[in-house]
Amino acid sequence: MGDRMHAHRRVTLIRGDGIGPEITDAVVRIVHAAGVPIEWEEVPAGLACFEQCGSPLPAETLDSIRRNGVALKGPTTTPVGTGHRSVNVAIRTALDLFANVRPAKSLPGIVTRFGNVDLIVVRENIEDTYSAIEHQQTADVAQTLRIITRQGSMLVHQYAFALARQLGRRRVTCVHKANIHKQSDGLFLECFRQVAQDYPDIVADDIIVDNACMQLVVRPETFDVLVLPNLFGDIVSDLCAGLVGGLGVAPGGNIGRRHAVFEAVHGSAPDIAGKGIANPTALLLSAIQMLEHIGMGRYARRIEHALFATLKAGIMTRDLGGTASTDQFCHAIIARLGDTPSDEGARDQQPVVIPDPPLPTPSTVSNWRGVDVFVEWNQFDRLPPVPERSGGLALTMISNRGTKLFPGPPPPVTMVNWYRCRYTADAPIDSSEVLTLLAQLSANGIRWMHVELLPETMVS
Ligand code: NAI
Repeated sequence: MGDRMHAHRRVTLIRGDGIGPEITDAVVRIVHAAGVPIEWEEVPAGLACFEQCGSPLPAETLDSIRRNGVALKGPTTTPVGTGHRSVNVAIRTALDLFANVRPAKSLPGIVTRFGNVDLIVVRENIEDTYSAIEHQQTADVAQTLRIITRQGSMLVHQYAFALARQLGRRRVTCVHKANIHKQSDGLFLECFRQVAQDYPDIVADDIIVDNACMQLVVRPETFDVLVLPNLFGDIVSDLCAGLVGGLGVAPGGNIGRRHAVFEAVHGSAPDIAGKGIANPTALLLSAIQMLEHIGMGRYARRIEHALFATLKAGIMTRDLGGTASTDQFCHAIIARLGDTPSDEGARDQQPVVIPDPPLPTPSTVSNWRGVDVFVEWNQFDRLPPVPERSGGLALTMISNRGTKLFPGPPPPVTMVNWYRCRYTADAPIDSSEVLTLLAQLSANGIRWMHVELLPETMVS
């Protein structure tokens, strides 16, 4: 393999927190020893960066990724409950990295329940409950909005199918909960079916997420490429990591149209930081995924071969049942880089081209035919005294935690001080009628805190 074949490619490097510096150091050494023509541009991010310069994600870090197009990132620590927002979420949204791609493949030498897993999880990376749109509705009720859009869904499905075709995969499965979340997962599934029509060579099917989890832990070898909304993808991809050996061997890439950031699935592992025992495999597999993404597949194969040979020889870190330190493991891989079989004739894989999704026609809901008003009411022995009529709007339902209380009789269920009052009309309504209703509620001393207009399709 002649290095002359590739000009040096500049790649942003973020070492991160906890075990981040140890494992990125190991990966950089292996990549260098493999002769990969990469020039690293190191920039800071994470908790240590926040403590030093007041920001967990300085502008220079994002600028570097924007300039170079590609980054390899070590894990960063996010304070729980308080403190700064997750650096990962901030990078994904700032750079529009709409797909998170996590391969889960059985590795040689690592004993798991299954020996033949080879699947790829493609997770929508921006939307769902991750938009951080949260509200305190009453003192007892918190809300996270789950937003699924046609644009975001089309993009991730386009990428999943393009990736499947590029890698010669045969099947893409959409994982969802459209039986319960009829609007949000329903839209995700509708977009999946639309994109699938452009890929007649690939089997497209779908499965409900709970069934998918059961099938994955019983027959994981039957899955190929999975595409999921953000939250299900987050959970299911960790489940898949467990199928092949756990967090220490789970890589990932955050992919956008112009930029991509590759990082291990695991976090900064503060419990073992600085001890020299962290497993760099997940980050190394992420680097391999990155090399494939930038068209340096032959270097990826060389490193992968040395990694697999090392694991097959039983040399592994403690989390995988071995005794090697990070440094010993890294040396063992470097020592095997020369053993790579001839890659004459091997071809670098072309980067996946994300086709332009058909631009969705900007459309508006044709007519509003009702409104859900959410009100606070603390006397559980009677329903909130909301008006039964307001102009053309008639009260058709009151519910509490999804259970219908009106029209009665109310069932004996656990109640909270947050009621949904549904008003519908026989003809289209406009905002003035809603405002009149809200004014009437306020005049009756009813606290309302959330209003959702209902399109015709939801009222019929
Ligand atoms: P974690 O993944 O850091 O650790 C979970 C367990 O796995 C620990 O026992 C740890 O020692 C072990 N582990 C993880 N990676 C390992 C490796 N490479 N080698 C050997 N053992 C390994 O998850 P945790 O403890 O929930 O999170 C710690 C911090 O990491 C938190 O601040 C969290 O927000 C952050 N985090 C960052 C991520 C990222 O930057 N991509 C992803 C997930 C968590």
